[in-house]
Amino acid sequence: MLPHTPSETPPANLNALAEDHYFGANPPPKDLEKHVALAKDFIDFHSAAGRRLVLVTSGGTTVPLEKQTVRFIDNFSAGTRGATSAEYFLEAGYAVLFLHRQFSLLPFSRHYSHATDCFLDFLREGSNGSVVARDEDAAKMLHVLRKYREARDKNMLLALPFVSISDYLHELRSIARLMRPLGPNGLLYLAAAVSDFFVPPDRMSEHKIQSTNAADPLPTKSNSPLNEPETFDNFDSSPAVPRSKRLVVDLDPVPKFLKNLVEGWSPEGMIASFKLETDPTILVHKARYSLDRYQHHLVIGNLLSTRKWEVVFVSPGNPDQWIRVPFKDGGAVKKDEPVDPKSLPEGEPEVEIESLIIPAVEELHTKYIKSVEERKGIKN
Ligand code: PMT
Repeated sequence: MLPHTPSETPPANLNALAEDHYFGANPPPKDLEKHVALAKDFIDFHSAAGRRLVLVTSGGTTVPLEKQTVRFIDNFSAGTRGATSAEYFLEAGYAVLFLHRQFSLLPFSRHYSHATDCFLDFLREGSNGSVVARDEDAAKMLHVLRKYREARDKNMLLALPFVSISDYLHELRSIARLMRPLGPNGLLYLAAAVSDFFVPPDRMSEHKIQSTNAADPLPTKSNSPLNEPETFDNFDSSPAVPRSKRLVVDLDPVPKFLKNLVEGWSPEGMIASFKLETDPTILVHKARYSLDRYQHHLVIGNLLSTRKWEVVFVSPGNPDQWIRVPFKDGGAVKKDEPVDPKSLPEGEPEVEIESLIIPAVEELHTKYIKSVEERKGIKN
């Protein structure tokens, strides 16, 4: 059994201090004000209509190594979970605020973007020099186009991009606060792959980190580097390379702001977070631990290797609920245990697992709204 120590949760005032410190030290993205204005209009519009609204976060967050960023650390997430979930939330009648990593997958266009499905492969030249969908793709494309247009025309979808971890956290905090008027009709569905580590600005180089000392000292007529050979220009990381010539990256932990989100930024909305692991033996424990620690409403656990085939719902007062797409030999899988990746068929599942996840989230959201209304003494 793994240690279970929710008492490690910092007291509320320490969370507030960590928040002030982080947001004071890490500048907001330059488009924050513009995004906040767009998000406010969108949220107010749907709040006035009494509609459910979900904030879907999606894609990876970068960790810049330089202020004028040339290099950054990134993670694997393509935004498939977020973009696909957004479509099923729209299908379920939710307005969707889609906070996504710039250039990651977007709802609807995801069917025709990124390298495996280049959009040009779906097109051909028609008569009179027009561009038309290939016959075999036209029906699906028309369906996707109609869904997309409907979402846009009815103002049901707003997509806002972020890039770095600090952009993401600034955007998340501002938007979550704006969602308060929605009360329990607001849902936060946190599918972005959020970095756990970052370089704090006071230790971040302003300019591109140099791999040679050719710029040091700055050239004058007398010491021009053109007069000397470069003293370092190789990528050999053998022990013979001195530390001064390596790039040693020293990262601080990113504060976990889920507690602040639950207690401060969005105290009435339902919060569903994702938990990603690679080790199947710790997934459920870590998901339950996260729920106990942050006291929110749902943790959806998934494993990197099987995330398109199964997830596990961990929520207060309920037994763990595994959700799986059907597959050949799926009947042999133990109901309450992660599937063995080796038993899965090759390639992608025929059913998108988000088509099963979203109705299950919606059901929990309905229960959540009822429980908040009952607590407030509102009878329907
Ligand atoms: O985009 P895809 O390729 O489809 O992949 C989808 C996914 C695997 C990324 C998605 O399903 C998923 O699991 N997203 C969450 C990944 C993640 O950040 O997991 P985590 O275990 O590191 O974090 C758990 C929770 O803590 C997350 O809700 C996160 O928002 C939160 N967190 C994480 C780091 C951090 N510094 N602060 C946080 O609050």
